[in-house]
Amino acid sequence: MKIISVVGARPNFMKIAPFIHEINNYNKTTANPIQHILVHTGQHYDDRMSQTFFEQLNIPTADINLGVGSGSHAEQVGHTMIAFEKILKKEKPDWVVVVGDVNATLACSVTAKKEWIKVCHIEAGLRSGDITMPEEVNRLVTDRLSDLLLTPDYLSNENLKKEGVTDDRMVFVGNIMIDTLEANRHRAEKISIKEVLQNNYFDNSQKNTLNIENEHYALITLHRPSNVDEKEVLEPIIRFLIDEVAVNQPILWPIHPRTQKQLVQFGLFDEVQSHPNIILLQPLGYFDMLRLNMGAKIMLTDSGGLQEECTILGTPCLTLRWNTERPVTLKEHGGASVLVGNNVNRIREEYNEALQKQRAPIRPPLWDGQTAGRCLQAILNYNQ
Ligand code: UD1
Repeated sequence: MKIISVVGARPNFMKIAPFIHEINNYNKTTANPIQHILVHTGQHYDDRMSQTFFEQLNIPTADINLGVGSGSHAEQVGHTMIAFEKILKKEKPDWVVVVGDVNATLACSVTAKKEWIKVCHIEAGLRSGDITMPEEVNRLVTDRLSDLLLTPDYLSNENLKKEGVTDDRMVFVGNIMIDTLEANRHRAEKISIKEVLQNNYFDNSQKNTLNIENEHYALITLHRPSNVDEKEVLEPIIRFLIDEVAVNQPILWPIHPRTQKQLVQFGLFDEVQSHPNIILLQPLGYFDMLRLNMGAKIMLTDSGGLQEECTILGTPCLTLRWNTERPVTLKEHGGASVLVGNNVNRIREEYNEALQKQRAPIRPPLWDGQTAGRCLQAILNYNQ
């Protein structure tokens, strides 16, 4: 059997790593090894957004890099499709495996189906219900086309059933990102906060970070276009961070390239960067982010992956979105996260409540660190 797996952007790397390790393990025990080719579309290309994760998570260098880079959605998807079609015609794999919901996921699943190649989607069935999110478009199209839909939770199976997907096309396998978390948490635990900060300062400014301790800082990430692309939305969030969060505790903020660009454009960057209690960091590697999450008093984020990691680690999490494709992480399902959108009154109310909370880890069904094995087994079982 020949499988091509695809990655494109940062959140894909922690999902593909355990799957590749599983194929390698399987190949050691069989007379019919799987031939595996890893394709990186190149959507994320900075070392800190890509290469670092390959090194830390032991992902082999991609066999093929399409070098697509930045651009509008149509440019990214179009360039990926043109380049990926050539790979498929040459390699003729039995399966294309895509993960998550980034532009690479969409582009490569469409291209594969037009070449009559079977598609397997890992992390199928998530739905935010918000079609204005580029990721929701990517999820809908990918799931509509995929032959095998591997879901992270029961709610995703329900979503797919409502869309007419039959049981024989979907398998509940659990959350593959948690395989990576479980495989690396001991390593992350050993890192000190001081080390993380020293290795990742955004600039050379000398801020007083010596006394930053576990459970005494807020951790922030922001990158969604809906939060950072308009000044009317981003500015009030920044004011809240400066006037109400940074007065009580230091804020550690690994800043996404998109957000940095927008802050500069809106004339907000200098105030954020020079604030004594806001510690801007470069985009963090996997271990460092996990370490900071393990010790944060509170997380404020618009990332889906961090919402999930907060659930397992128990970090109280304010999700700066109005909806989520990952409801299993919300407190109404027992999780650590609460949706606060980008309205400051709502953020404030939940922030004050979350500050009173203790860390409370929970583990949704099959978020057990063994999902990659179930993914590979589902592919091997297909049509048998
Ligand atoms: C993408 C994904 C999103 C995911 C996020 C995680 C899609 C539609 N979106 O959004 O689901 O949560 O990644 O990071 O696929 N840039 C750099 N260096 C890089 C990569 C990007 O400077 O290595 C810049 C680009 O020039 C662009 C901006 O960052 O201006 C955004 O990058 P882009 O790939 O368009 O999407 P993300 O916002 O990162």
